[in-house]
Amino acid sequence: MTRIEQEAARMGVLVEDLLTLARLDELPDIEPVPVDLAVLARDAVDDARATAPDRTIDVDAPTGSVVAGDPHQLRQIFSNLLRNALVHTPAGSAIDVRVADTGAGEVLLTVRDHGRGLPDGEADAIFERFWRAEGGRERGAGGAGLGLAIVAGIVGAHGGQVAAANHPDGGAVFTVRLPRQARPVPAVPATTAPSATS
Ligand SMILES: Nc1ncnc2c1ncn2[C@@H]1O[C@H](COP(=O)(O)OP(=O)(O)O)[C@@H](O)[C@H]1O
Ligand SMILES: [Mg+2]
Repeated sequence: MTRIEQEAARMGVLVEDLLTLARLDELPDIEPVPVDLAVLARDAVDDARATAPDRTIDVDAPTGSVVAGDPHQLRQIFSNLLRNALVHTPAGSAIDVRVADTGAGEVLLTVRDHGRGLPDGEADAIFERFWRAEGGRERGAGGAGLGLAIVAGIVGAHGGQVAAANHPDGGAVFTVRLPRQARPVPAVPATTAPSATS
């Protein structure tokens, strides 16, 4: 029964991922709203900590790193990168999440882990659909190899860039750059008095 349940859950995630990619292909246009990536980062980290209480997950995300985009999609960037940092690294190893406004019109987010790092020379291939270092689905703890393709699709739809590299001191580092929200978030009016009509 447990196996059937696990397999059903895996199939559910696969279908969900395929639908997400199909939607990104069909409807790449988003209706942007101001989204604070720092808030999303902390929320995603809280989820990851609950899933993996054995991990030290450090988050440095000052409020006010605002981009224009789809909050649900932007949240998924963090979920997918954190999930990888959990499943593709040894148990108990630490994870660091950073969100920062670069001051140059971009918000930079990084997810760094302390695992074995990316397979040599595969820093671009990992973003391809169905690409997995482990090969066969019976090996490794990841999914179907769609998580990073979804991240790349979402980042692209938001006019940003994503890259993966190995940290000189070990572990994988995923870096996402997104254009900062152009104008300040419009303030909510203090009163709801209707404007005069002419
Ligand atoms: N943090 C990481 N450390 C090492 N390898 C990684 C990491 N994240 C992703 N990878 C490699 O990239 C592949 C593709 O990742 P992804 O698209 O999320 O697929 P999945 O996690 O379903 O395998 C993974 O199978 C793994 O080989
Ligand atoms: Mg994954």
